[in-house]
Amino acid sequence: MTTHPIQTICCIGAGYVGGPTMAVIADRCPQIQVTVVDLNASRIEAWNDPDLGRLPVYEPGLDAVVGRCRGRNLHFSTDVQSAIAQADIVFLSVNTPTKTRGVGAGQASDLRWIEASARQVAACAKGHTIVVEKSTLPVRTAETVKAILAAAQGATPDGETKSFEVLSNPEFLAEGTAIADLEQPDRVLIGGEDPAAIEALAGIYGHWVPSERILRTNLWSSELSKLTANAFLAQRISSINSIAALCEATEANVQEVARAIGSDSRIGSKFLQAGPGFGGSCFQKDILNLVYLCRHYGLDEVAAYWEAVVQLNAWQQHRIARLVVNKLFGTVTAKRLAILGFAFKADTNDTREAPAIRICSDLLDEGAELAIYDPKVSEGQIAADLEQPAGDGGHDRGGWQLSSSALEAARGADAVLVLTEWSEFAAIPWVELAAVMRKPAWVFDARARLDHGVARAAGFHVWVVGQG
Ligand code: NAD
Ligand code: UGA
Repeated sequence: MTTHPIQTICCIGAGYVGGPTMAVIADRCPQIQVTVVDLNASRIEAWNDPDLGRLPVYEPGLDAVVGRCRGRNLHFSTDVQSAIAQADIVFLSVNTPTKTRGVGAGQASDLRWIEASARQVAACAKGHTIVVEKSTLPVRTAETVKAILAAAQGATPDGETKSFEVLSNPEFLAEGTAIADLEQPDRVLIGGEDPAAIEALAGIYGHWVPSERILRTNLWSSELSKLTANAFLAQRISSINSIAALCEATEANVQEVARAIGSDSRIGSKFLQAGPGFGGSCFQKDILNLVYLCRHYGLDEVAAYWEAVVQLNAWQQHRIARLVVNKLFGTVTAKRLAILGFAFKADTNDTREAPAIRICSDLLDEGAELAIYDPKVSEGQIAADLEQPAGDGGHDRGGWQLSSSALEAARGADAVLVLTEWSEFAAIPWVELAAVMRKPAWVFDARARLDHGVARAAGFHVWVVGQG
């Protein structure tokens, strides 16, 4: 059992969670050596790029944190084995996407990367090692991790004894605010069985997180709390988006409704922003995982309840695409449409499950020509996201091109669609855009963040989510 303070940390997975989380731990705990490892050599190379503007993850404030610690007590490496061997604690922060085939395809989490990394820890660890589930996992995954580690436990040929303790420590950061979320978390959650291991991990967070914000639970509560938190957050978004559609039909205004209900302290004001539906790598995957688990345990009604949150989300995205077609006289074939924003939310370059993907794909299927501008998303990423499904070449799909500004995207367009709430869109020069667009020109504000008065004064027809 480890009683000495933690001196070395290894994190397997240098992604959106592993990178920023370990950077903040290294920043707040200069006495601990932190090594983040990944199989993806180009990702590690980017984390080691001398130009901090080229880190693989765009997150406000991340460059400064990495700049302070990298080379001091924060290291990025592809040498997974030796980082594990030296570590007192190993965080598993690998991807856990939805399975695409086999048992549970489309709903269950694909745990192959968790299993592979647990096996690597089993093989390479030395002495006593605390293994921390940082990835979001189905409840009871720790059982699997423990079983893999247990098979390697005991005396080793070099005369040492290998032992493990497993903890669950899910991450609640949101992209775009990751650094602030990590530095001032609402709570840190640690689930486990061994008090010494729990306190060792709590001791790391204790360097900067107030003790009352460090919650301790059993393993299963911790694993399930993560899925539940995301399900509750996503459910609020589907709830407000369902009301947005009703507002559009009744001349109610969803922003006013959100303010009115959010003032009730039992409801609260956060996560009531109507929009093009939630995107991001986790909400959909985690709810589908919850749905799968509920069905597995025979709770079909519970599964159906949560599944509706995801179905409403997809419906909202298709609805917006349909509505654009209808407003543009029932056809967008060969019409140029300016798409402003492709990331799933502002302040990130991440496009995983971005609402823009489904909305743009629907419009491409309708034959539209899209001019896409996003301040942070690369052309290659958009190309990968809008790639035509294999075997779907039988109709006249439209095309797309990248634009370098909102103005360039709007040139010759019939409509501007705002799909991400980048702050720079609040200052769009509507008069200039109107001058270069075809008339009648439309603005579809799926985020309800623009200055609609200015756009209307510039001659635009304006549609706003939840207002019509
Ligand atoms: P990611 O895909 O950005 O990063 C995962 C990394 O793990 C990849 O770079 C991959 O190459 C690496 N990897 C996989 N198997 C490996 C192995 N065996 N050895 C070494 N490296 C390996 O994923 P992410 O967004 O960082 O998410 C990681 C986990 O955290 C997921 O379970 C996710 O649900 C959860 N989570 C994500 C967020 C978020 O905002 N992205 C927030 C909270 C929790
Ligand atoms: C979300 C959770 O907020 C994090 O707590 C969690 O750790 C993370 O998922 C995860 O497990 O991956 P993230 O997806 O990064 O974080 O970003 P959010 O701010 O939650 O936004 C998700 C989506 O919901 C975005 O597309 C956003 O535009 C949308 N959203 C959010 C709304 O449409 N309305 C809102 O009121 C809030």
